Amino acid sequence: MAILEIKTFPDPVLREIAKPVDEITEDIKRLAEDMIETMRLAKGAGLAANQVGIPIRLIVIEIAEKKGDRAIAIINPELIHTESEEVSEEGCLSVPGFYEFIKRAKKVRVKGIKIEVSKVEIECEGYPARAFQHEIDHLNGRLFIDYLSPVKKEIFKKKYLKQKNR
Ligand code: NI
Repeated sequence: MAILEIKTFPDPVLREIAKPVDEITEDIKRLAEDMIETMRLAKGAGLAANQVGIPIRLIVIEIAEKKGDRAIAIINPELIHTESEEVSEEGCLSVPGFYEFIKRAKKVRVKGIKIEVSKVEIECEGYPARAFQHEIDHLNGRLFIDYLSPVKKEIFKKKYLKQKNR
């Protein structure tokens, strides 16, 4: 296993639309393991392959409330159902040091292929539901900061870029 470099905003790979994965090869399995290790070291709740510079549709998520408890790797994840809304604080390993309150669905059903198992549909709410939405956004080149109001976006740009150039 290896620790991967996490790309940070404004790296263009974070804006790429990730490509579907056709086959679970040994390389894909190894990448998923490395992503889980990288996510845990960085104390994240999830990680998308774009964030380690590989724009393919693969995400890893901590599915249990307690971090480091149970991580799963899913290829070609799709949100097939979303229900009710909830505003909660969110951050991103690719936008370090910045957190904001974002409105997302409270409950989701996600379809995809779980590595080493088979097709899955996962229904969850709260914390993992938010992580799924956040990571699937990454595969579509979308970041949580895109949900900010124009005013908050300006504040983010000033704060974040200032901190980054320090
Ligand atoms: Ni993120």
